[in-house]
Amino acid sequence: MDNRPIGVMDSGLGGLTFVKEIRHQLPNESIVFLGDEARLPYGIKSSSEVREFSFQIAKYLLKFDIKMFVIACNTATAAALQFLQEQLDIPVIGVIKPGSQAATSLTKNHQVGVIATQKTIESLAYTNQIGLLDSKVKVIGLATQSLVKLVESNQMNTDYAQQIISEQLNFFADYQVDTLILGCTHFPLLANEIQSAMGPEVKLIDSGAETASVVKELLTKNDVLASQHNDNFLKLLTTGSIIQFEKVASNWLQDSKLDIAQVNLGE
Ligand code: SIN
Repeated sequence: MDNRPIGVMDSGLGGLTFVKEIRHQLPNESIVFLGDEARLPYGIKSSSEVREFSFQIAKYLLKFDIKMFVIACNTATAAALQFLQEQLDIPVIGVIKPGSQAATSLTKNHQVGVIATQKTIESLAYTNQIGLLDSKVKVIGLATQSLVKLVESNQMNTDYAQQIISEQLNFFADYQVDTLILGCTHFPLLANEIQSAMGPEVKLIDSGAETASVVKELLTKNDVLASQHNDNFLKLLTTGSIIQFEKVASNWLQDSKLDIAQVNLGE
C-alpha cells in the first residue's frame, strides 16, 4: 500500500480526461494535476522546449512526494517520456503506448487513424509505436492542432465546433479507418462531435482513459495502490487563469467543489 499521490501533467485541460478515468477506476488514489495553460499550446513548440517544460513540471510535482508521474499529454509524451524516465526515480508513464495498444487490438481492417497536434504527428510516435506492436497496421495521421483551442475556449458541444471538426475530419473520407486514436488528451472532450463526423462505425480510442488502465495495472502489480482508508484528495494546479480552468474542470469532472490553485513554476 502507498497513499502518496499520483502526479499528472498536461499542457492544459486535456489531461483531465485521464484524471476523470483514474478517479473512476481507482477512487482511493490522491492526485496532483498540473496544467501548463500559461504556455499552451505545446503542439507547435519545439521538442526541446516541451522537454524542458515537462521536466520543470515534474520537478515541481515531486515536491508533493508523488509515487508516479503521468504525462497525460501526447505532445509531451512524444518529446519527453524517455528523458523523464531517465531523470526521475519514480515510474513515468506516457499516453502513446496505451493508446496504440488499444487501437491495434481493436482494429479489424488494420487501418488506424490518429488525430493529434502538429508536433505529435510530426514525431511519428504513434506510427512507430504501432509498427512495433503490429506491423500489419497502417497508420494514417492528421494534425488537428486547432481542436485544442476549441477545448481551451470551452466551445465543446457547439455548432461551430461541429463544423470545424467535420471539415477537418473529412480528410479521412479517402481512407477506410475503422479505429481513430484521439492522440491528444484534449480531444475526448470533443468526442461527440468527432464521432458524428467519423460515423458511428468508427471506434474512438481515448489515449488518456487507456493510460488509466495501464496505471491501475502497474500500481496493482507493484503493490502500491492507495489503501481503502486513504484520506484521498484531488489537487488541481494551473499556470494560467483559474476562472476558465474551473469552468471546464467542474463540468467535465462533475464536481463543483474542486481544489484549484494557480502556480508559478518559477517559485
Ligand atoms: C497542446 O498543448 O498543443 C496539446 C497537447 C497534447 O495534448 O498533445
